[in-house]
Amino acid sequence: MSMEQVAEKAAAEAVILAIETSCDETSAAVVKGGKEILSNIVSSQIDIHERFGGVVPEIASRKHVETITVIIEQALQAAGIGFEDIDAIAVTEGPGLVGALLVGIVAAKSLAMALDIPLIGTHHIAGHIYANELVENIDYPSLALVVSGGHTELVLLEGEGRFRIIGRTRDDAVGEAYDKVARALQLPYPGGPHIDRLAAEAEQEHVLPRAWLEPDSYDFSFSGLKSAVLAAINQHRMKGLELDATALARGFQSSVIEVLTTKALRAAREHGARQLLLCGGVAANRGLREALASQCAAAGLPLLIPPHSLCTDNAAMIGAAAHLKLKRGEFSELTLRGDPGLQLEQWSVEA
Ligand code: KG4
Ligand code: ZN
Repeated sequence: MSMEQVAEKAAAEAVILAIETSCDETSAAVVKGGKEILSNIVSSQIDIHERFGGVVPEIASRKHVETITVIIEQALQAAGIGFEDIDAIAVTEGPGLVGALLVGIVAAKSLAMALDIPLIGTHHIAGHIYANELVENIDYPSLALVVSGGHTELVLLEGEGRFRIIGRTRDDAVGEAYDKVARALQLPYPGGPHIDRLAAEAEQEHVLPRAWLEPDSYDFSFSGLKSAVLAAINQHRMKGLELDATALARGFQSSVIEVLTTKALRAAREHGARQLLLCGGVAANRGLREALASQCAAAGLPLLIPPHSLCTDNAAMIGAAAHLKLKRGEFSELTLRGDPGLQLEQWSVEA
């Protein structure tokens, strides 16, 4: 075997312990060869933040501190391995809440130092995208539609681990818009699943505007749509009319889906993408999945959507993305710090 083949074989067997604490999920996972999930433990704080209607950063950090050690132990136990079997530690470096990121980073650095193994600071969105690789092989060039509570991006994968953002939201992220609209309709946090359900139940549609922006733009904007929903709710209240929340949910969801799917398919066509990858928490949206499935089928474009447990925040996806760096021997220094503004393109593998 050549040196490259030896390195490749070693990478295919490499066991990564991955840690994710960027927002309100504390998670640890063991991933082998960047593809095989040996364990993926996720502890959600949703019930704690629910009463505040959103994530409270201070509380999130404190909960991460309380749970991280136990979650790491559970991940190893569920994988049936010990600390001595780990080849590298991966951790979400950013973007995310700075205090929350720090908890995972401190844990990861301590382990890397104690075990004397490499540390891999990992981009959270690269994780969401590479969750797909835990299910199927990604073919390049590929186009990812990233839709979560904090992000809405169209990312072109020119090659393995090479990211180029071709469109992004100019204001609210799509999940954020869902949560704000749900709040205005007095639905619980997180609101996305509730709006999705109401939209499916609706018999009428309250037609709302679509934000296409400039004709050639792949950017998004959801704040105008959100304001249109709030205005409709206020008008009903002022006139003392009963509000059909299902019709409004359907109208909001239709607008979001039409813009997302139209831009994603146009971008895939223009860039010769071989696949469309859907990822992030909003990938759970039934309406969006159905619309993309039928449009991709009509266009002959393979669509990849990870299972729900890999769409929401989890550490296995961080392990999958970190493997890109492990394979190439690109490791982080033990001086690694959380970077809430970490840029995806800059996290690309070295050319
Ligand atoms: O990726 P994620 O778990 O966390 C972030 O990194 O942001 O995404 C959470 C977001 C929330 O805004 C939530 O309302 C939204 O995903 N979400 C949905 C659905 N399920 C979760 N949005 C629309 N429809 C759904 N079925
Ligand atoms: Zn996320």
